[in-house]
Order: sequence, then C-alpha cells, then structure tokens
Amino acid sequence: RAERLVVEENIKKLLKDNNAVLVAHYYVDPFIQDLALATGGCVGDSLEMARFGQAHSAQTLVVAGVRFMGESAKILSMEKTVLMPDLEAECSLDLGCPADEFSAFCDAHPERTVVVYANTSAAVKARADWVVTSSVGIDIVRHLHAQGEPIIWGPDRHLGKYIARETGADMLLWQGSCLVHNEFKATELLQLKAEHPEAKVLVHPESPDSVVALADVVGSTSKLLQSTYEMDADTFIVATDLGILHEMQKRSPNKRFLAAPTAGESASCKSCAFCPWMAMNGLKGIEQCLTNNSGEVLMTPELAAAARKPLQRMLDFAE
Ligand code: 13P
Ligand code: SF4
Repeated sequence: RAERLVVEENIKKLLKDNNAVLVAHYYVDPFIQDLALATGGCVGDSLEMARFGQAHSAQTLVVAGVRFMGESAKILSMEKTVLMPDLEAECSLDLGCPADEFSAFCDAHPERTVVVYANTSAAVKARADWVVTSSVGIDIVRHLHAQGEPIIWGPDRHLGKYIARETGADMLLWQGSCLVHNEFKATELLQLKAEHPEAKVLVHPESPDSVVALADVVGSTSKLLQSTYEMDADTFIVATDLGILHEMQKRSPNKRFLAAPTAGESASCKSCAFCPWMAMNGLKGIEQCLTNNSGEVLMTPELAAAARKPLQRMLDFAE
C-alpha cells in the first residue's frame, strides 16, 4: 500500500508538470479510476472518454483503456500528445475486424451505409460513414433507418442484432464478438435470477441475445451504472466487465451487486468477466509513460482526417 501511494503521488506530480490529464474507462483498475477522478480527469464509457479528451485543454491525454480509445482520442485531437500505459492493450472486436477484409465486405455492398462500432481501428473507422458507441448506436441507426438507408454493421454481431431488432433497420452484420461479453450464459443467469427474484438484471449489449432477453436494462457501461442509482431496487445482477462494480458500489454502498455467470466458472472464479486487455493498465504503466513520454499513439494526418469524419458525425449527433 505504501508503495502504491508513492506511485500515485508521483503520477499526480507528473500530470501537473506535463500539463496532462488522465482519461479512464470503467473497466480499468479501481485505483486508476479513483486517481483519474482525484486529479480532475474522467472515468466514463467510451463516448464520454472521447468527448472529455476532445474538450479538455491539457496538452497531453493519458488514456487508460484499450487501444481504440487511445486512437479515438488522437483522431479527435491531433494537436495533443496521447499516451497509453500499454499500447498492446487490444480489443477482440478490433482484432477480429481487419481493415482490408472489412473494406472488401463494404465494397461488395456499395448500396449500404457503413456504420461501425467505436471498438475498431482507425483504418476501419476511415472506411465508415458513421461511428457509434453502445450509448448512441440505437439512436443513430434509427435515424438512418428513417431515411430508408440499408446498413452494413461491424464488428460486434450481438450488438448489431440487438440494434436491428430495436430499430427494425435492415442491417448486414460482420460476425465479430467480444471475448468477455460473449461468455455470459443465459441458463445460469436464469438460475441466479431465480435465487434472487428481487434483483434487476443489467446487461451490456455485446452479450448474446439469449442473455439480453433476460435484462431489465440493456445499455452502455454508463447507462448500466446510472440505472443502479436511479432504479428503485437493492440488488442487481451485472452482465459486463466487473471493473464497473467499483463505481457502482461507490455510488450505492448499501446496494448489492452480483456478477452474472460466465462460461468456464471455477471455484476460484465465480464470474470471469474481466477484459484481459483492460487489465494491462496499471499505475506503474501510467507512471512510466508520463516519465519517459512512452506509449505514444501516433497516426498520419491523412488517416486521422478520414477517421475523424464519421467519429465527429457521431459526436455532433449525440450532442
Ligand atoms: P462502452 O461504450 O459501454 O464503454 O463499451 C466499451 C467496451 O469496450 C465494452 O466492452
Ligand atoms: Fe473489447 Fe470486450 Fe475488452 Fe470491451 S471488454 S475492450 S469489447 S474485448
């Protein structure tokens, strides 16, 4: 603990000295989340992180999350330095959607509007007409559907199917999935619900539709969090990365949060819903990147300009 406090104090000083701000996702280490808040940074879902980084006056953004989040920050603020504690922090959706293959998929269906999830590389964003996050996906697709536009969607098939069902839009889906959310299991969740009939079930829409079907609330990490303090309930079953429980518990210390069951449970791991790439973010990594100016997200101006168009379109729409 003493060592951690020393590292935290050093990071606070480095942030000040480097005119830097810490932008963290709800899934990263709770100590990083607390430090971001204590130093005037942000903890949020991917949309909030992008907005915060773009609007903040700091010259350097330290993004604690996965690579697409660092890339989005850079795309929106090319004049800023964007550092990440670990540039190898990937995302299975991004990895499962190579830009050349996705581009060929789009080329084969030129009549369709291309809508991609934010969990993609800059190159995939550059091929898209729209970027969306889970918090605005339904609204944007509903808007496009109202204009009669058929859609290509990538990469998450579960989120795509959910949005298509909610909006009635014609959506051709790339078949990607998140290795964390894809593991939630409906049968076991039903069992847990039966044991806690009073509990409300919160599900991130990257989960399989059989799990989404059991939800009281479906939404982005921020929406799930919000429902825990707004809903009149004392117990919640949470189907998303368990990093979110830190903020949920902090906001509602007297409520009870249960992890939704995943495949591969064992005695030591009741629910295994932890993103291995989010877990690569540590206090030491933050200290290091601020000390050495390492882990910088770099991008050509051409790529950034092409990816910014659909990303900025989403931010303007969501305002
Ligand atoms: P949010 O947009 O809800 O933050 O989701 C990002 C993510 O990676 C979920 O797994
Ligand atoms: Fe990607 Fe899934 Fe990790 Fe989110 S939880 S960053 S979607 S692998």
